[in-house]
Amino acid sequence: MRTIDWNDGSNSIVMIDQTLLPMEYRVIECRTLASLCEAIRSLRVRGAPALGAAGAFGIALAATLSSADNMDELTRDLKVAAKTIKATRPTAVNLAWAVNRTIDAISDAYDPDGIRDIVLAEAKNIADEDILKNKKLGKYGAMLLEDGDTVMTHCNAGRMACVDWGTALGVIRSAVEAGKQIRVMACETRPLNQGGRITTWELMQDNIDVTLICDSMSGHVMRRGMVDKVIVGADRITGDAVFNKIGTYTLSVLAKEHEIPFYVAAPISTFDPDNWEENVTIEQRDANELRFFRDVQIAPAEVKVYNPAFDATPMENVTAVITEKGVFYPPFLLDEIIV
Ligand code: MRU
Repeated sequence: MRTIDWNDGSNSIVMIDQTLLPMEYRVIECRTLASLCEAIRSLRVRGAPALGAAGAFGIALAATLSSADNMDELTRDLKVAAKTIKATRPTAVNLAWAVNRTIDAISDAYDPDGIRDIVLAEAKNIADEDILKNKKLGKYGAMLLEDGDTVMTHCNAGRMACVDWGTALGVIRSAVEAGKQIRVMACETRPLNQGGRITTWELMQDNIDVTLICDSMSGHVMRRGMVDKVIVGADRITGDAVFNKIGTYTLSVLAKEHEIPFYVAAPISTFDPDNWEENVTIEQRDANELRFFRDVQIAPAEVKVYNPAFDATPMENVTAVITEKGVFYPPFLLDEIIV
């Protein structure tokens, strides 16, 4: 199934609960806005494009649940829902982008039921388009990979981070589909181990060769010549920086030092041409993510913790950005890329 989808039968959002992977594969249903917001905050659904779909379906859910019988009241309800959804996670721009796009679609409606139909149709379009865009960017990116390459990746920018296929892992999937032998080195990605838990699981399901390393091994394997390319996804691309899972910046510096190409794979919906690094809020997460691993305590319970979920990689560390519109090299002029 898709990572996240709409269930027409029960008018609800269905998703794979990613907090349980790889030990358990469970599909959960969100029937209320509160349960959707909880799922986003706790990373049951995660990854920028998947968050976009979650946000859009959230507006559709709010429209179904609202009892408003006139357009003004329903529009007001949906705008409140939009604000609530956008506040769940601040860094991945796809969430706000998809919520805004769904809200903007309301202007084509003539009555409350029209609004309900239109926002659901728009949310479904956003989800369908996500797969098409990933397949397209995957094909462009696959041309950068050579038969026999070992590709390092960070966090999970695969089908679980999208509606399907993936961005960074979509490039790898497309290269494998084109007959290339690609090996993947997956960084564990502390503290929530999206790389160790999800990327490895996903690739093993597709029989793609994957080796897990912990984050502190990345410099060593690059120095030993064990990595040909690095490909990561992105949560937001401003004019001067790529925001992605914490640890991405470190990999970009290491890749530069070892003259290894550092690629970012992301759909245009991840671009934020109106902002610069200094304007972007980096989500700070709960201290217990570092003090505990699930229920096991791994640090003093009262220790002070700094836990930013993302970091910013300056554009000068990026070799190329892979999008559904093609591969872009420096200088990265966002206005020209997104037209
Ligand atoms: O905190 P997460 O798991 O939502 O962070 C996800 C990432 O950082 C991904 O690399 C990014 O969203 C790109 S997904 C195609």
